[in-house]
Amino acid sequence: MFTIKSEYKSVQGDAIIIGLFEESQSNHSLYNDINKNLDNELELLMEDGDLSKAYKSITKLYTNKRLEQKRLYVIGLGKKNELTLNQLRNVFGTLFKQLHQDKNKHIVIDLDYFATPSVSIEQVAEVLAEALPMATYAQPVFKTIKKDNRIPIERVTIISNVDKEIVKKALEKGYAFGKGTTLARYLVHIPGNMLTATKLAERALQIAKEYQMEYEILEKEDMERLGMGALLAVNQGSTEPPKMIVLKYQGQAEWKDAIALVGKGITFDTGGYSIKSKNGLMGMKNDMGGAAAVLGAMATIGKLKPKKNVIAVIPSTDNMISGNAFKPDDVIFAMSGKSIEVRNTDAEGRLALADAITYAKRFHVDKIVDVATLTGGVITALGDKLTGAMTNDQDFYKEVEIAANYVDEPIWQLPYNDHFKQQVRNSDVADLNNSPGRKGHAILAGAFLAEFAEATPWVHLDIAGTAMADTNHNLGPKGSTGVMARTLAKLIIN
Ligand code: BES
Ligand code: MN
Ligand code: ZN
Repeated sequence: MFTIKSEYKSVQGDAIIIGLFEESQSNHSLYNDINKNLDNELELLMEDGDLSKAYKSITKLYTNKRLEQKRLYVIGLGKKNELTLNQLRNVFGTLFKQLHQDKNKHIVIDLDYFATPSVSIEQVAEVLAEALPMATYAQPVFKTIKKDNRIPIERVTIISNVDKEIVKKALEKGYAFGKGTTLARYLVHIPGNMLTATKLAERALQIAKEYQMEYEILEKEDMERLGMGALLAVNQGSTEPPKMIVLKYQGQAEWKDAIALVGKGITFDTGGYSIKSKNGLMGMKNDMGGAAAVLGAMATIGKLKPKKNVIAVIPSTDNMISGNAFKPDDVIFAMSGKSIEVRNTDAEGRLALADAITYAKRFHVDKIVDVATLTGGVITALGDKLTGAMTNDQDFYKEVEIAANYVDEPIWQLPYNDHFKQQVRNSDVADLNNSPGRKGHAILAGAFLAEFAEATPWVHLDIAGTAMADTNHNLGPKGSTGVMARTLAKLIIN
């Protein structure tokens, strides 16, 4: 995909890209050079106010054989001291979308100029390569009449005078992050009839094999033997077998300081006997968004091979109704030994995750992060641009927050205190209550999971709002966002 060169002149391509800050262009050598080759056209446009330097604005020009590249795209960057890394990622997203739409196959881009006092050239390369697959990603469709005449961007020549090895590493890093996200989006987008727990496990195996990770898929019989009564209860009404998917990435000689990534893998959530409304059912194929984020992160980790130890644990099943299905009032036993009164079969995610968290602990992990499309409540509380988070360890939370902010997947902490602890323990018949009420129920869901994390430092990420985008955005189309794939990968790689 990427080639690095120090000179643009002889590189044939469909498009060349230059960035412009609000500040004077007098020392922008590429700009000056291109301007000269285009008979001072850029300066003239600039004087007439037709060459915008406003943040994210794009001006397209034909070079009429005066350059080796057919088109010139000038992208505005705003003020140099104000441009943040996150904004730059969005600039590249906007740009790649346009380049893709205009059917440019080979693009040439001047890297070094994009750097600012707060954004290094390495970081520029990173977000550029990250934005490319994200911005040009399209949701898969199953139309029999294809009108997909999209031409992918096949080659990007990076013009840079910085050490080529450094730029290359940064490009590889960013690209692996972008691809992890698009993999997560893809998995979320596939409907429940096509992506069953069995299929999700197959996908996970592909990742494990591609990156030489150890793996383990627990079957229903294994779950029975291990006493995973919570996950089994959710699966009870289904004709599809459940899977507990485990991938092990060992980047250190010794298995120590491991982090567990636990992702909710409900391939379709009907709500069970506490059935959802007909509107509520729509979109419930997305209820494996946490699993997708974990797998996306594992693909990124597999590619970049950090010296870290990671275990991914994904409890997967659909949540269905039948004569066998679990019911409200049922009392079940989780693998940890705790009993749970089922008050609401639609609060199934926390049940599946409870056993996954317990199982993850068997791998002697130091820390646990769970990611789940867990509650509608988090959407009410925070909307669809903030992931709700909870923790039992403020220092670990800080680490996750730093990773999330770096990749522009902001999280917001919800409180956790004795009131909520007491609420999830409020049952007349069991140790725990899976649905003590509607008040603060995003928090109650997290508080329930905390009963299984126990003393292990843990962060919970509720992506019910952020897993989907209502509209197209700079870094992708509407629909699944693949949110948290990059945050998790960043957390590990930090
Ligand atoms: N998968 C849903 C949460 C969800 C809702 C995700 C909307 C994405 C969009 C989860 O299993 C669920 O049904 N949660 C219930 C919990 C309630 C029964 C305590 C909810 O949020 O209403
Ligand atoms: Mn549910
Ligand atoms: Zn659910």
